[in-house]
Amino acid sequence: MDFSLSEEHIMIRDAARDFAQTELLPGVIERDNKQEFPQELVKKMGDLGFLGIMVDPKYGGSGMDAISYVLIMEELSKIDASASVIVSVNNSLVCYGLEAYGTEEQKQKYLTKLATGEFVGAFCLSEPEAGSDATSQKTTAIDKGDHYIINGTKNWITSGGRADVYIVIAQTDRDKGSHGINAFIVEKGAKGFDIGPKEDKLGIRGSDTHTLQFNDVKVLKENRIGVNGSGFRFAMKTLSGGRIGIAAQALGIASGAFELALKYSKERKAFGTEICNHQAIAFKLADMATDIEAARHLVMKAAWEKDQGKNYDYSSAMAKLFASKVAMEHTVEAVQIHGGNGFVKEYHVERLMRDAKITQIYEGTSEIQKIVISRSLIRK
Ligand code: CAA
Repeated sequence: MDFSLSEEHIMIRDAARDFAQTELLPGVIERDNKQEFPQELVKKMGDLGFLGIMVDPKYGGSGMDAISYVLIMEELSKIDASASVIVSVNNSLVCYGLEAYGTEEQKQKYLTKLATGEFVGAFCLSEPEAGSDATSQKTTAIDKGDHYIINGTKNWITSGGRADVYIVIAQTDRDKGSHGINAFIVEKGAKGFDIGPKEDKLGIRGSDTHTLQFNDVKVLKENRIGVNGSGFRFAMKTLSGGRIGIAAQALGIASGAFELALKYSKERKAFGTEICNHQAIAFKLADMATDIEAARHLVMKAAWEKDQGKNYDYSSAMAKLFASKVAMEHTVEAVQIHGGNGFVKEYHVERLMRDAKITQIYEGTSEIQKIVISRSLIRK
């Protein structure tokens, strides 16, 4: 067993760290305040290969492994979780889904542009009445021979107003339950496809979250992904990889907050000494560092399993469950260590605390991760 990163992985991590410091950090507070989508930065991340990290270079991707993906996600998320969720959804839910399950034509037409950042992708599974209970899709896709007609509403869609390509999960045969669900590629601007108002959110305010309406949207059969009825399994498999990305995001939020808290505690003085010398603070730092390291091992293990071609449903659920808990708990502690300054935007930790919460909710709530983990344990 080797816990050290290769030279190549260190270079990739350092490149992401450098990008986060020089490009993401300067405007991050303003983007959070204004709920501003980082359009130019998405373009730059595309140029660096961050939007198609694991995609085969023959489709315009960077051809890196999942370990590289989590290293990049951690570094971006330390500074800007709004930018990193765009990266995560584009990589894990859209590019991976197309590369693993799409036809050659779909890959040539869409993946080549998504992997380079020319296009941004969105993944549309959640609905007003089907968030955790993902098999209860109310959106319908009726088979009309050479095309489908889609009707329904999708909620809380990341990059919903900015994407060029939307993967839409819909019910084609209600009687067949999860086997009657399909995934479709819908292009921006399709007739009857309307983007609702942007959500005003607690955290990841720079990411663009919308409700989407599908009113008799015609989608050609060639835009269905996979064989008929495979859409639910497609969604579950892509989400397993997505959970590695979000676990790495949570890890980045936690480690970003920890780094700020450690630095602050070595500078701020109270009762005649730097506050890190008070056991009340020192023990918080020890707990934070230990939990973050444990989260990092779970995230790396899930990524390693993906790279090894093993099943990572269980390990990705565990990584997300634990890393998101660590992110929530320790961003609160980072604010506490900063005292009054922690409550002020310029110190960054209050934003990280707000951003942490969503990691316990999207791509499967913590309760859903416990369902996945416990079912897997019982089956073993
Ligand atoms: N791989 C392959 N197949 C799978 C699978 C997996 N990981 N998980 C389930 N399946 C199969 C099952 O084997 C079953 O097949 P059979 O009928 O042939 O046996 C079928 O799918 C149905 O599975 P379940 O009976 O387990 O389904 P369920 O109704 O009990 O739900 C669940 C399972 C795990 C709770 C699932 O509904 C789930 O993951 N819910 C959460 C959804 C979610 O993560 N939403 C996030 C939205 S996306 C998002 O947040 C994106 C964003 O923008 C950031």
